[in-house]
Amino acid sequence: MRSFFWGVFLTIVLILVGAYLIVKFGYVSFAADQETSAIERHVAMSASDASVERRAPVLQNPITPSEDNLVAGAKLYRDNCAGCHGSSANPDSAMGHAFNPPAPQFMSDAADMPDNENFYIIRHGIRWSGMPAWKAKFNDTQVWQLATFLKHIDKLPPNAEKEIRQPPSPSY
Ligand code: HEC
Repeated sequence: MRSFFWGVFLTIVLILVGAYLIVKFGYVSFAADQETSAIERHVAMSASDASVERRAPVLQNPITPSEDNLVAGAKLYRDNCAGCHGSSANPDSAMGHAFNPPAPQFMSDAADMPDNENFYIIRHGIRWSGMPAWKAKFNDTQVWQLATFLKHIDKLPPNAEKEIRQPPSPSY
């Protein structure tokens, strides 16, 4: 019985060492234009979603979807996010599709996550993707304005609609 357990243990160790060596010596492609396998996609996406659900603090959005906040959010989005996530002139960004995983195109497919999760993602970014941690640039009010804008992206008041259509003035 003891040797059976040793056999199982050694097999598991060999599989783990084998997997480590395959990754370590470059047999796994990290090219963004490479199609990801269904297993990788499933494991990585569900791990990333579960991590956000577990870690995003349960916060109430402290700002209202007033016209002022939506205009401010529209301006922040237009200048900082639209290049990857789509603008009103270019709602389906080719650049956004070149990331792997691709950047969601919010102008044509509105974000449907709760505000607190969008707030968390915008502040902290998503590791190993093109999504930056914006807390380096924006204060919490600005991040909430962005989350509020994303929630209302498909039903904006006229002034926010006007703002989003202006040419971008990026300030990286
Ligand atoms: C350089 C490209 C880039 C820029 C600029 C960028 N993002 Fe992202 N973003 C991404 C990518 C790529 C993903 C997808 C990551 C993933 O699926 O793991 C993403 C994901 C997200 C998500 C999660 C969406 C979901 O459904 O899971 C949100 C929310 C988001 N971005 C908001 C923003 C906001 C707001 C800005 C501007 C302040 C911004 N992003 C700027 C590339 C970018």
